[in-house]
Amino acid sequence: MTRLDPHSYFDTTQPKTRHLELNWFIDFVRRQIDGSVRLLLEGPSSGPMDLDTKGLTIKAAYLDDGQPIPFHLADEEPILGRRLRLELPDGTKSFGISYTTSPDAIALQWFEPEMTLGNRQPFMYSQCQAIHARTIVPCQDTPRARISYYALVTVPEETTVVMSAGPEGRIRDLSPGICAFRFNMPQPIPPYLLAIAAGDLEAFDLSPRARVWAEPEMLERAAYEFGEVEQMIQTAERLFGPYEWNRYDMLVLPPAFPFGGMENPRMTFLTPTVIAGDRSLVDVIAHELAHSWTGNLVTNATMDHFWLNEGFTTWAERRILDAIHGEEASALRWAIGQAALDEAVARFGADSPLTKLRTDLQGIDPDDAFSSIPYEKGSRFVYVLEHQVGRERFDRFIRKYIDTFRFTSITSEEFIDFLEQELPGAADAVKANSWLYETAMPSNAPAFKSEKLDELIAAANGFAEGRRPGPKQAGKWDSNELLVFLQNLPRELDHESLAWLNQNFNLTQRGNYEILVEWLTIAAGSGYEPVFDRVRQVLLEVGRMKYLRPLYTALGKHARTRALAREIYSQGKARYHTLSRRVIESVLDKYDEGNQ
Ligand code: BES
Ligand code: ZN
Repeated sequence: MTRLDPHSYFDTTQPKTRHLELNWFIDFVRRQIDGSVRLLLEGPSSGPMDLDTKGLTIKAAYLDDGQPIPFHLADEEPILGRRLRLELPDGTKSFGISYTTSPDAIALQWFEPEMTLGNRQPFMYSQCQAIHARTIVPCQDTPRARISYYALVTVPEETTVVMSAGPEGRIRDLSPGICAFRFNMPQPIPPYLLAIAAGDLEAFDLSPRARVWAEPEMLERAAYEFGEVEQMIQTAERLFGPYEWNRYDMLVLPPAFPFGGMENPRMTFLTPTVIAGDRSLVDVIAHELAHSWTGNLVTNATMDHFWLNEGFTTWAERRILDAIHGEEASALRWAIGQAALDEAVARFGADSPLTKLRTDLQGIDPDDAFSSIPYEKGSRFVYVLEHQVGRERFDRFIRKYIDTFRFTSITSEEFIDFLEQELPGAADAVKANSWLYETAMPSNAPAFKSEKLDELIAAANGFAEGRRPGPKQAGKWDSNELLVFLQNLPRELDHESLAWLNQNFNLTQRGNYEILVEWLTIAAGSGYEPVFDRVRQVLLEVGRMKYLRPLYTALGKHARTRALAREIYSQGKARYHTLSRRVIESVLDKYDEGNQ
């Protein structure tokens, strides 16, 4: 037995899947997917084959001629789920499994019509990263086991389905009241990139290869917000090589989506909180687009190498934005990331193994290990490499890296070997081992400086001492500048200062959620009652964990607002995604314990 991934029962000595054929019936009433999957193997195989499952009811396993295959579902393991072991007869090239998902499959979130913008149709979507694909299909759920897939998805006739794949048409005359959509993903992807959404969706074309999908009520705003996407694709292609996924479409999800974005190939999934009205939060698009190279083409082998996905992508995202919007604001983007990095290091503790880039997540749920560290520490590691060898050489290296490892999944060690081969000495020169294997930040972590950044930090420090920035100065700040100013303020302020801030920057009414949440976090943490209604509104609407954690923390850490936090949570709980619930409960439980 050889298991390479601590989060999968995938065994390298067993047969390997190369393709999935999904046949799914979306049941909005019972909140489950009924259906089957046919697994096509790399070659004729026999003997035991282990698949990952979680919460699945397995009805039957059978060869293509219908002959049953013996199988056994092992006991539930809390993180991994249940191992499904099949005994394949000699010469098996493909076989089928019929099954049903559980109504609380972690990968799926379901919405009644009343919970959508249009109130007309139910809605559902999936989020499979990191290890939730197994809650919607029995599979070898590890990024090393890449698969192509075909899907036939049956839904009520008024419903539109999108997937992380190319659409191959809709079949309307199946039987009364239902229709089916066909999809094909011909390129081999890690299973965590399998994705589906179904509901009342319409599309708007932004360019010949990019369109945005959303509920009709949201479409116009989304179309404006993402209007720069073709320019971003072209910029990314100049930096990282040809875009290999054919189309780049985007889907705007309901606000309960627990992430900012998810890089599902051909169909990025997005939180509506990025729609600020002024394109000020399109860094999320640059990020998910950049994953088309770093993540979807070159993929982390397991979650222990997650920084290869997110660190490279965060670096790539900033290179795209620098190329489009100029490098003047670059230091600000890095400074905003630094605040998230500092928060994560403080939360885990500077000596926590979770602050290493190369982690050891045996026995640890990847959802619990999630933080800004792989993003911000990882991107800084890439940045110091870039600056060690010079941009021109590094850009050539990155293109070769992507070209060499495209459609494969690699480890940190494989990356370092390649780095040593292509740029000998660079790894040692930047202390790569310290970046990868040591906790917190290495001594050669870059410091980002600019005049603007100095000005904003000075203004924030001055504010803490009672000096107000003048309208001539502050009136010119753009969104990121205001955000940096707010991030550098003390976490608690007196009410007079808070009233001044709100009056002068109109903070409670901001459409930019980064600014809004930063403001509400300071104000709520200061016990400033005038914002409580807005805090409640945001918490009841938005499920993005990046916003829930600081807001619930701000309320939870003080005895005076702890009951309010609990009350808002009990009101909003039913509408939160499982992952959002877990984050909130961990925050609230921590402060309750501290209280006893
Ligand atoms: N792939 C991630 C989201 C993710 C990571 C989901 C791990 C599940 C497990 C996505 O690309 C991401 O990083 N999203 C960020 C965007 C931000 C860094 C611009 C987010 O959701 O905040
Ligand atoms: Zn990402």
